[in-house]
This record gives sequence, C-alpha cells and structure tokens, in this order.
Amino acid sequence: MCGIVGFTGINRASDILINGLQSLEYRGYDSAGIALVQDDKTQVIKTTGKVEDLRNKVAATADTYGTCGIGHTRWATHGGVTEVNAHPHQTPKVTLVHNGIIENYKEIAAELAKKGYTPVSETDTEIAALLIDSLYNGDPFEAMKKADEILEGAYGFCIMFQDRPGKIYCMRNASPLVVAHTPIGSYIGSDVIALIPYSKDYFVVPEQHIVVLEKGSVSLYTMDHEKVEPKMLHVDWDTTAAKKGGYDYFMQKEIYDQPEAVKNTLAPRIHDGKVDFSADKISDDLFKDVNRVIITACGTAMHSGLVGRSIIESLIRIPVTVEIASEFRYMNPIMDEHTLVIVITQSGETADSLAALRLANERGAKTISIVNVKGSSIARESDYVLYTHAGPEIAVASTKAFTVQCCGMYLITLKLAEVMGILSDKEISEYIDKFIAATETIPAVLEMDDYIKTIAEKIKDTYSAFYIGRGLDYAFACEGSLKLKEISYVNSEAFNAGELKHGTISLVTEGVPIIAVATQDHIFSKTLANVEEVKARGAHVILITDEDAAGYEGLYDDLIKVPKTDDFFGGFGTTVAMQLLAYHTTVYRGYNVDQPRNLAKSVTVE
Ligand code: F6R
Repeated sequence: MCGIVGFTGINRASDILINGLQSLEYRGYDSAGIALVQDDKTQVIKTTGKVEDLRNKVAATADTYGTCGIGHTRWATHGGVTEVNAHPHQTPKVTLVHNGIIENYKEIAAELAKKGYTPVSETDTEIAALLIDSLYNGDPFEAMKKADEILEGAYGFCIMFQDRPGKIYCMRNASPLVVAHTPIGSYIGSDVIALIPYSKDYFVVPEQHIVVLEKGSVSLYTMDHEKVEPKMLHVDWDTTAAKKGGYDYFMQKEIYDQPEAVKNTLAPRIHDGKVDFSADKISDDLFKDVNRVIITACGTAMHSGLVGRSIIESLIRIPVTVEIASEFRYMNPIMDEHTLVIVITQSGETADSLAALRLANERGAKTISIVNVKGSSIARESDYVLYTHAGPEIAVASTKAFTVQCCGMYLITLKLAEVMGILSDKEISEYIDKFIAATETIPAVLEMDDYIKTIAEKIKDTYSAFYIGRGLDYAFACEGSLKLKEISYVNSEAFNAGELKHGTISLVTEGVPIIAVATQDHIFSKTLANVEEVKARGAHVILITDEDAAGYEGLYDDLIKVPKTDDFFGGFGTTVAMQLLAYHTTVYRGYNVDQPRNLAKSVTVE
C-alpha cells in the first residue's frame, strides 16, 4: 500500500527511483512522484497516473541530474487522486514520502494551524511533513524522535532535510522499509523487489528505528540515536523472478509458477515420509497440548485458512475457527496457552493480521505464521514462522501464494497428526504420498489453459456469477470467487452449495454462471443435487470436478475435469482451473489483470 524508494550515491537518482517505483507499482498506482536533490536545491516532480507517466514527465523536465532523491507511488487514502495530493510533500525545511496512515492528523493539523502552518493538500502526509518541519531545529534525530512521540498510526518515512543535501533520513513504525548498500550508493524501498537489481543483501529496518542513507554508508539507529548493527538478509531468488518472463501479465506468470513454488515449499519439509520442520526451527512442542486452533488472516490468505479449518477439524478433531483479522481484535477472542494461533499472510505486513498476531501473543497463545516475505513484521513477531517459498508475487491478485499457503496448512496438519499421535508413521507417509501426488496434478491443469479460455469467453459478459461447493470444496470456491470478482469486476459470491436455496437462488436467472466445485466423493451427489436446482433456473453451469461426471451430462454446460486426487487434498487442481478462468475472463473484459482498480497488494493500513 503505497511504495516508497530512496537513493543517494554516485549515479543519477531519477532512473534508479523511477525503476524502483515501477517495480513497486503493485503497491499503489494512482499517482507517483520523485524529489531530487542537486547541490542544495530540491526539485519535486509528480503526476497522477502510472509510474510510466511520471517517467515521461521527468524525461521532459530539464536538469534532473541529482544523485540523491526519494520517490513514491500512491494508493490514495486521505484526499483524492490529484497531483497536489501526490507525494513527495515539501515544506521549507523538509521533503518527504510516506507509506501508511497518520491517524491523529486532524488534531496535529489543528495544533499546527495555531502556529501558522497551512497545508496545501488534503493528505495526512503533508501534516506529518509540516510537523517535522515545525520540530526541526538543525537536529534531524531530535525532530524525528519528537515527531514519533506525536504521530499515531502506521508509517515509513523517507525524509530529506533541506540543509542536509545528499542524506536521506528514514524512520519506521509498522510500514515496511528495506535497505541495501553498494559501492554505487545506498538504497531504500518498501520491498526488496526495488533493491534486487542492485544488491541481493539487504536488511529490514526494525520498527521504531531510524536509518541514515549517505553516499558511502548506511547507518541504523534506535530512536534515541544509539547506533545498532543491522541484521543482514539475503534474497534467494533472482531478478528474473520479479519479471514477466514472456507472459502477458504477472498474474499469468504466477499461475504458471505454481508447480515450482509448491516444490520449493514442500521439498525442504518432507523427509523420509514425514513432515520435518527442523530447518525451520519449529519445535514439536508447539503442537503439543493444543486443544484449539484459531486461524486468522485477510482475503485470499483467509481462504487458505478455511482450507486449514476443514482439514484440521476432519483429521485432528479439535475445534478450529477462522477469523477475519480485521475483526479479530474487536471480538475479545478466547485464547490461552493451549490455543494455537496460525496467522497466514503473503506479505507479512498486513496491518490487521499483524494486530491479530499481537493480540494472540499478548494473550499467551502459541503463535505460528505462514509467511512468504522473509523478515517481514509478522514473521518476526510470531513464535514460529513457516516460510512459503513462492518467490515474489507481484500481481495484486494472489495465486501462487494461496497455493503454497494451503501447502503450509497441510504440512501443519500432518505435523499435528504426528505429534498428537493421531496417525501412525506409516499412515503419515501414505498421506504425504497422496499430498505430493495431488500437487503434481497442477501441470496437467495448466495444460487445460486454452480449453478454460474458451469457457471464459462464454461468461465474459456476465454481470454476476456464483461459486458453490460443500466442505473443503467450499473453501476453494471462496478463493475462486474472489479471484474472479477482484480482477474482472464480475459481481461474484461463493456459497455453500446447499445454502443457495435459502435466499440467493432468487438471483439465479437464465445464463447466470454457476461455478460448481465438486471433488469430495462422499458429498458429490449432494452438490450435484444443488447443481440441478440452479440448472432448473437456467443457470450456465461450469462443473469443476475430479469425479466421474458420467450420467450428469444434462446438468452442466461446461465441464472442467481435473485429474483425480485423494479427497483430503482435493483443491489444488480446482484452484488452478478457477485462477485461469478468472484470468481469461478479465482479459476478455479488457481490464488490467495485474492492477485492479482500488486495490493494492500490501495492505499496511487497518
Ligand atoms: C487477493 C489478495 C488479498 C490478500 C490480502 C492479505 O487476491 O491478494 O485478499 O490475500 O490482502 O494479504 P497478505 O496475504 O499479504 O496478508
């Protein structure tokens, strides 16, 4: 949610900043801007629209030779999409970019107004800039510390003080910032994707810390100006992983990345027919004396939690609840030391999921997170972390991250089964074989791409669609529906198959697509009975199943027959089929698959 970058060094900053912003554009794409420092002059160039528009504007601007600068790509929160509201924001003493939300900006603005400070934009960020300006008396650390004491909310700032040319001061509370240094200069960004063209070694700025970027060094400090050693991390994927690699869209590439992502996530954790978390340093003790599981997450990640609930309850027979992270904190949830709280997140920075984790930690629950981004806040603050190895996910709509999150849920479930003595070693080994076999069906579904495209063409003009399934199929149907809705803008909802007739079936009219997911043998005929109900109302039924659908021909218009797997692991093929359906429908409708309106990839505000 908003991307920020900074560079100071020996090369021209504008190119580095704009390339960095382009790689961060998934975080926000309604406006963008940069500020460049040359000698003691600061030049701000900003525009509404895409980073490409900014690139053109910079190219048309004279004297953009500065070697120090900051940049921002915006996802509007406070104030509309206008050039004035775009970052960087400038005051006489400071120029800054911000990622996050200042919750008490109105109170601060009122105080500043008494001192004669008048903002020109409608943003919370400009208020922060004015506040820091008002607190600055020549000592950046003093001004930032004082500002930190006043500001409430989430922020990552990159600040250039007018009288300190060549230096970038950054401070972090919640919103992520990562830093790298090379002989060319010092780099900062919201995500390591902005840094990897220059360095694979980086560090994550810890919360409540300040970083100073200079041409020849980066220095990390506490808010009290004590110097600390950064904890260096290494990126284990290369720059090609963050490029489209010949695909039309990142989403398409990421759908095709799934066999590899699954392999990378499973291979290090499966040894000798058992789940082995020793390399992750996840102790078996975590899974002992657990009498209840709470899974909390947002959006797609929450859907992998629904998968988790279904499989843990059916195999382990302990109660599992799935809580939407934005609600969790306000429900006064019941937790104790026997509760295992699992937080699932691709970015590791989702503000609501982080808040849910903090509450679970506070209440003494055992916590483990399933996270894709190394060193992210949620990874750092949970008792244990199970990293998924999807590589960078750039399309706003999550695909490969979901699949590996589900893998994480299966691994944890099988580990619970082992530690709690629910399955014998032999049974676990058999489950693992079926698990791997299920994931290995993904390439066969990818080969159905052209066929699924023909189905997408048939539904491309629909206004609404419904996804139905029972049990585990319902969990996957929820994700299928979200995929279609968020990128194609088709008004799509998922329902438990038996629930439609309690109200929603009134919306099923001639030609409305119903995507029915049916992989569970024991309830296949029940789901098909519900299909019959919608077919009778003229629905266009797309049946996605791994079962033998012979004899049901009259009930569906299109059949996506994915390879047969064990029911317990039944969602991998159906998921990929639904991702492809959403993708092609969106392409037919002419929308930008990777950057759907109003959405940002990493939601770092509550
Ligand atoms: C949808 C999507 C979102 C995210 C959600 C949580 O395709 O990507 O629903 O799943 O915003 O994000 P993370 O997983 O980063 O916590």
